[in-house]
Amino acid sequence: MKMWSGRFREPLDGTFERWQRSFPFDWRLLPQELAASVAHARTIAAAGILTPVELRSIESGLAIIEKKAKSGGTEWLKSNEVAEDIHHFVEMTLTDEIGPLALKLHTGRSRNEQIATDMRLFVRDEIDATLTGLSNWATALIDLAETAGDAVMPSYTHLQRAEPVLVAHWLLVYVEMTLRDSSRLLDARKRMNFCPLGSGAIAGATLKLDRNIASAALGFDAPTSNSMDATSDRDFLLEFVQTLTQIGLHISRFAEELTLYSTAEFGFLDLPEAFSTGSSAMPQKKNPDLTELARGKSARLLGASTTLATLIKGLPLAYNKDLQEGQEPVFDAADTMRGLLSVLPGFTHALKFRFDLMSSAAQTGFLNAMAAATYLVHKGVAFRKAHEKIGNAVRYALDKGCELGDLSLDELRQFGEEFGEDFFAGITLAATVDCHDVIGGTAVGRVKSAIGSARKRIDMMKKARAAGGTQVHV
Ligand code: ARG
Repeated sequence: MKMWSGRFREPLDGTFERWQRSFPFDWRLLPQELAASVAHARTIAAAGILTPVELRSIESGLAIIEKKAKSGGTEWLKSNEVAEDIHHFVEMTLTDEIGPLALKLHTGRSRNEQIATDMRLFVRDEIDATLTGLSNWATALIDLAETAGDAVMPSYTHLQRAEPVLVAHWLLVYVEMTLRDSSRLLDARKRMNFCPLGSGAIAGATLKLDRNIASAALGFDAPTSNSMDATSDRDFLLEFVQTLTQIGLHISRFAEELTLYSTAEFGFLDLPEAFSTGSSAMPQKKNPDLTELARGKSARLLGASTTLATLIKGLPLAYNKDLQEGQEPVFDAADTMRGLLSVLPGFTHALKFRFDLMSSAAQTGFLNAMAAATYLVHKGVAFRKAHEKIGNAVRYALDKGCELGDLSLDELRQFGEEFGEDFFAGITLAATVDCHDVIGGTAVGRVKSAIGSARKRIDMMKKARAAGGTQVHV
């Protein structure tokens, strides 16, 4: 029986009925629906709507449904072709288990507040899972940075060689991104952790319910403050999916760099075979499918963000059925992120760089020109002038087909009398790296402490998560 058939004389059109059902996808909210139902049953029992015996019977009926779902798996759930949505499904199955008492459970509540509650519980779990996944990936990146030691690579601006940096310094960029993303998730979690139960269909429950009971039982910080807002607010979905999109964009940059660096043209790394695929046509191929697919997944996340934003745009208050369309993009984005974060740590740990090739690439193409200009600055030359003098020397070396370090002192002195014998020590690879000795710079000592600090910040983030997402600045 429908949850709303009283005022209707005609049956629903069969095609329309099938088309409007959300059960084919919201069945996965069963754990959340059951938890929220137990919390609501306790609230209405406290208000005298259920006797203690009735409450116990409802609770045990809900527990049986949970058990059945565990043993029957998703097949048992999906085989139900009648339920309109997860709320209807639980009501029907509970009626099968405990009889008409089940119908009392819907006293003082509406599906509008139920779906808002279920989705909050779902998103909260997914935020926690994403935080765990991100910290695993960050740890793999830090481990890899530690293994890279003092190895050097070129850095790029405009995809043209810029200055040498430590490989570790480059890898830690992605750790910074995961830390910012984790902070976004913790922040979003705190903002959404309020309980809609008791908001009714729109104006608030028609019974005098103590909303704190359900809120506390479900681990929320407090009941929501406005019933119209609570039943129509989907900011938390948008914020969650937008944060996943941001993470996806970060992953896509990592994926793109590795795809590029694994080409013969760069040759900076050998793709781990366990994470690569071959070509059915070209026998020699080893393709970077993992990084390509990871890069592609960000498109899908961005699509989910766009769907949600468009869904909410201009939607009048309060609940509208349009909101049902917000569930699938959230499920898809959450699954996509779980998938990404399941493969990234293993892939990252398996990466093997060609440090020799990275280092020689860092020593050709005048990557020490900035360090050379800085040498002249230390000799009292204004940077503007130093830039010009080194520019002239670079032009000269280019014509000669050599690097700055290959020029003789006499040749260098054509461009400035400040050049001395100590110039050559100032532009070696090690000196070129180490002259960036500032907070956040690539000097060896700075990167070493950056690795330590990154580990500490990841730990702080894990602690914040364990504390239930209390926001800390990481
Ligand atoms: N399946 C619906 C959804 O996901 C549940 C809420 C239905 N409320 C209603 N008034 N029809 O949005």
